[in-house]
Amino acid sequence: MDSNDFASEERIISREKLAEDSNLEKNLRPLSFDDYIGQEKIKENLDIFIRAAIERGEALDHVLLYGPPGLGKTTLAHIITNKMNVNIHVTSGPAIERAGDLAAILTNLEEKDVLFIDEIHRLNRNVEEILYPAMEDFAIDIVLGKGPGARSVRLDLSPFTLIGATTRAGSLSGPLRGRFGVVNRLDFYKVDELKEIIIRSAKLLEVDIDDEGATVLSKSSRGTPRIANRLLKRCRDYAQIKANNKITKEVAEKSLEMLEVDELGLDETDRRLMRAILEKYNGGPVGLDTISASISEERETIEDVYEPYLMQLGFINRTPRGRVLTEEAKKYLGQNSNLPYQQKLF
Ligand code: ADE
Repeated sequence: MDSNDFASEERIISREKLAEDSNLEKNLRPLSFDDYIGQEKIKENLDIFIRAAIERGEALDHVLLYGPPGLGKTTLAHIITNKMNVNIHVTSGPAIERAGDLAAILTNLEEKDVLFIDEIHRLNRNVEEILYPAMEDFAIDIVLGKGPGARSVRLDLSPFTLIGATTRAGSLSGPLRGRFGVVNRLDFYKVDELKEIIIRSAKLLEVDIDDEGATVLSKSSRGTPRIANRLLKRCRDYAQIKANNKITKEVAEKSLEMLEVDELGLDETDRRLMRAILEKYNGGPVGLDTISASISEERETIEDVYEPYLMQLGFINRTPRGRVLTEEAKKYLGQNSNLPYQQKLF
C-alpha cells in the first residue's frame, strides 16, 4: 500500500481530531483556568472579561479563538461557559446547512448562553448573514412568504455569547470577524507546558510516568496537547503490556519508535513533503498547488496542518514566490535520508 493512501487524519501525530480522541479528550479536558496549562495571556484576558461581564450581569462579548487544530479551542470554550455558569450549545460551520437551522438554534438560546461554532470559517454565506444581526443586535430577520408579498419580521433573541473557533482566521469574512469583541490566537505550546499536561493526564489515566519519560513524549508532541495526550495513551498501552505500567525514558522512546514518530514529532508525511520540495524542486521556491499535487495531499491540509509546525521548527518558509526549504531542513533530511520506508499503522 502506498503511504499516500493514508489520509492525514489517520496519522498518530495528526492534529485533527480522530474518532478515538473524543472520549480521551472528554476525560482529560481541564474544567477551569487553574487546570488549563499554557496560553497564559489568553487566560488572563478572558478571566478579566468574564469577571467584568458577571459583575455587570451581562453576557460575555463574542469571542473568536483561532490557531492550529488541537491546541484547546473547544476546551477553552467549555471553561468560559463553566465560569459564566451558563449552558453551552455546540455546533460547527459545516453542520449548519441552512439559515433556518441557525435561526432555530439561536431562538432556543437562553440569556447569556454560549453558542460554540467550531470551524466557523466553513459557514455558508446565507447562514453567516443571519449571524450579523444576531451578534450585533440580538435579533434575527425572518422573511415570511415569497415573491412580491414577502415581508420581513424581526425576532428578538436573548443576549448570548458566540464563541467561534477556526484554524484559519484569514478565511473569515471581514464583517464576521469585525463582530467579535475578543479575538485570541492560540500558539503552539512549549515543551515544558506539554510536559506538565502529560504529567497531569498520566495521573488521570492512572499510569506512572517519570520526568524523563514525560520529557521524551513532550518533545515529540508538535507543540500540541491533543497529540501529547494521544502519544501518552499509546505509550500507556505499551507500558501496561511490556513495562509494569510505568513510562520511563526507555519506554517512551520505544513506543515512539513503534509509532514511527521521531524526536521532533515528525513522521513520514512531513518528510515526504520536505523531500518533495528538495528533490523535485531543488529546495524551492515552489507553489502550494504544485506541492499538493506532487505528494497527493490537499492544499488546505498542507497549509493548516503540516506547514505551521514545520514553519515553527524553522524548516519551511513561506515566501511570495512559494515555499522554500531551509538549511536546517536540509540538514535534518540528510540525517534522516536512510530511514526505512514507513508504513502508517494509525
Ligand atoms: N488538555 C488539553 N489541553 C490542555 C491544557 N492546555 N492544559 C491542560 N490539559 C489539557
